[in-house]
Amino acid sequence: MNLKEEILKLKSELDLTIVAHYYQRDEVFELADITGDSLELAKRAKSCSSKFIVFCGVGFMGESVKVLSPNKRVIMPKVACCAMARMIDLEYFEKSLRQINEAGIKNEDIFPITYINSSVHIKAKVGQMGGTVCTSSNAYKIIKKALKSNKKIFFVPDRCLGQNFAKQMNLQSCVLGDKKDITKADIICFNGFCSVHQLFTLEDIEFYRNKYKDILIAVHPECDPIICDNADFVGSTSQLIKYIKDLDPNQKIAVGTEYNMVNRLRKNNTYILSSTKAECPTMNETTLENLYETIKSIKDDNINKEKEIFIDEDTVKWAKIALERMLEV
Ligand code: 13P
Ligand code: SF4
Repeated sequence: MNLKEEILKLKSELDLTIVAHYYQRDEVFELADITGDSLELAKRAKSCSSKFIVFCGVGFMGESVKVLSPNKRVIMPKVACCAMARMIDLEYFEKSLRQINEAGIKNEDIFPITYINSSVHIKAKVGQMGGTVCTSSNAYKIIKKALKSNKKIFFVPDRCLGQNFAKQMNLQSCVLGDKKDITKADIICFNGFCSVHQLFTLEDIEFYRNKYKDILIAVHPECDPIICDNADFVGSTSQLIKYIKDLDPNQKIAVGTEYNMVNRLRKNNTYILSSTKAECPTMNETTLENLYETIKSIKDDNINKEKEIFIDEDTVKWAKIALERMLEV
């Protein structure tokens, strides 16, 4: 039996669901019962009934499932940490709040929004402050709702997402640490970013536009604002998939997002908008061997504690509030 068959055999004997994000390696992705972008995974893993969730993705995604379903056992074949999520911790969050306060904006006049790519502790802090989580699929709606509070939005950790949505909604934005007057901004962004989505450049866009006259450029909103401004379509992972699938099969398109996902879509006329292979290193950490070992450890009742997600009750309580505020929208 090969590894894939071994996994399927073991899985059939256990009460478990394999969940995988679109950015996972193909051999892992194809064994998943549930696949999707971060919003879909959070919702679907919550409603699945199995005792064990084997989550193939990055740490914050497994944490979100555990927060929404604390009674399930969430095990990650690799607890890989998204580089962007790692850019902000509670100390940086507090420091940023102090910077905003020093500009004359009090905490009660701040509406914090955290992109789902953040640790459970940041989500809990945001929940405590009356704020919410968003993903790239629902950021527009979440920001629109937050604006009704007439407060300044403090958006963490992705400056690009914050700036891109501000532009789309005709709002003023700034990035903490730049020279702009933060009191004039509707959205104050923390200075975090995704190193994978920063790989796409204006030169890449020019290269494809020069090479193929009618090519379309589609990118994820984690790309730099200058890239989004020059694209034909900007959308979250699931929005990009729909956009590409709905195209005429002869339409050429260059896509600015993670390599594994783009490669899995229509192959002939779909190009990755980068001269380098834009793989997410942390998403790629999970291998078929890791998946096998994890499922075998469940079967043998010998789960490695470091691979299981445990979160203290208070953090779960507040992070859940922030996540559920998002799911209500
Ligand atoms: P999605 O919300 O589109 O799944 O994005 C998650 C992510 O990490 C993109 O880099
Ligand atoms: Fe994080 Fe970027 Fe990887 Fe997405 S692509 S998981 S934002 S490092």
